[in-house]
Amino acid sequence: MENGMGAQKAHRGHCLILPYPLQGHVNPVLQFSKRLQFKGVRITIAATISFFNRIKDATSLFPLGMISDGFDEGGANQAESIEAYLKKFQQVGSETLGELLEKLRDSGSPVDCVVYDAVLPWALDVAKKNGVSGAAFFTQSCAVDNIYYHVYKGIVKVPVEETRIAIPGLPDLEPADLPSFVTKPETYPAVVEMIRNQFIDIDTADWVLFNTFYKLEEEVIDWMKGLWPVRPIGPTVPSMYLDKRVQDDTDYGLNVFKPMAEACTKWLEGKASKSVVYVSFGSLASLDAEGMAELAWGLKMTGKYFLWVVRASEESKLPKDFINETSEKGLIVSWCPQLEVLADKSIGCFVTHCGWNSTLEALSLGVPMVGMPQWTDQPTNAKYVTDVWKMGVKAEPDEKGIVTKEEIENCIRQVMEGERGEEITRNAKKWVELTRDAVDEGGTSDKNIDEFVSKLVSP
Ligand code: UDX
Repeated sequence: MENGMGAQKAHRGHCLILPYPLQGHVNPVLQFSKRLQFKGVRITIAATISFFNRIKDATSLFPLGMISDGFDEGGANQAESIEAYLKKFQQVGSETLGELLEKLRDSGSPVDCVVYDAVLPWALDVAKKNGVSGAAFFTQSCAVDNIYYHVYKGIVKVPVEETRIAIPGLPDLEPADLPSFVTKPETYPAVVEMIRNQFIDIDTADWVLFNTFYKLEEEVIDWMKGLWPVRPIGPTVPSMYLDKRVQDDTDYGLNVFKPMAEACTKWLEGKASKSVVYVSFGSLASLDAEGMAELAWGLKMTGKYFLWVVRASEESKLPKDFINETSEKGLIVSWCPQLEVLADKSIGCFVTHCGWNSTLEALSLGVPMVGMPQWTDQPTNAKYVTDVWKMGVKAEPDEKGIVTKEEIENCIRQVMEGERGEEITRNAKKWVELTRDAVDEGGTSDKNIDEFVSKLVSP
């Protein structure tokens, strides 16, 4: 019998993966799922109905099990507030996740472990109630989550009043280096609550997985290992991109923007090595119109080629005439295949908001960064990029909080030309090698994944 107990023991386990339905969270979790699948683990993605509707075109990647966040039409966009969304997601999500686990068990494909985004800690209760192990997956850096842990414990008070913040495993930080939810908790109180809740029952998680790698965050990982079964398993950048050559149709993200992908790669074709500035602020962050204009004219002032991702919702902020004046030098798209772009040898600099995925992608592909952090974890990531990993510089805002065109031009020149650029290039080589070492067979992250897999069916 194919579905009999004997047949199940033969496989290497079954993970039910629960992502938080936002691009920056979904991408790393799906990439990790791909690694597990490659190692013989059966994967089912627990997808909310609204999320499924958005990724219909990509559903051939993994089998999906449907759950509900209580907003089947439009997900978080349909809720009156993020608070209302999270509350409903917890309530309806818990019920429907439990039902999905039962359904999979009854159909002869019992789940061995629920891998859930750490911002959905209720999934661990559901897993335990169903006799299944639970792995928290943190999609942000260990350093950032250690800051959040200290906030949760009340050791770091929010909003922060000190001018220097000392946290184990981290360099001394200034308030400007802290996540915005710590310095300005009043902006998104529900998100601050969500961040604290990540740690509520983490002590009972069977695994605590981080999208990072040992050498990148050695000190903080060592410190956190004293608390929980922490395993760095990243970066979740597919090795086909680390090879910088091979292309694949499936990048396991939400990118279903094929025509734009082709336009970008075609435009990059033939450009000299390290001659192009790539600019993107991820899926959420945005500049105001003044900041956008400064960035635009700063790019023009460098005289360099640039590929700029301006989401459709942001387009109206582009200064008039900018596109006409720079059509020879620049390409503006509303989305691009970022990994493919960063892996292209023509890219010499990445002007980034320092989202964790973008930071890891640039670092593992050796692309120097100009950090323009906007909110959430980005200021801390920018601090590490500049002062710890020495992979770029941070563009500092003026007294009015605007990053001027002169600052942008100067930062781009610093990383692409001159001594600072040479130092960054040397570091870039080091990080590319260390990333490869971590994810290659037998590397630290690979071994952690192997350990996780080996204990799935024989704990
Ligand atoms: C959000 C937060 O803003 C970020 O700070 C946090 O660390 C994760 O959640 P986001 O803003 O989308 O994420 O940024 P980021 O983490 O960098 O993730 C963006 C992802 O989208 C990356 O994997 C990137 O490769 C991809 N992307 C982005 C594209 O594929 N194409 C684009 O044009 C832009």
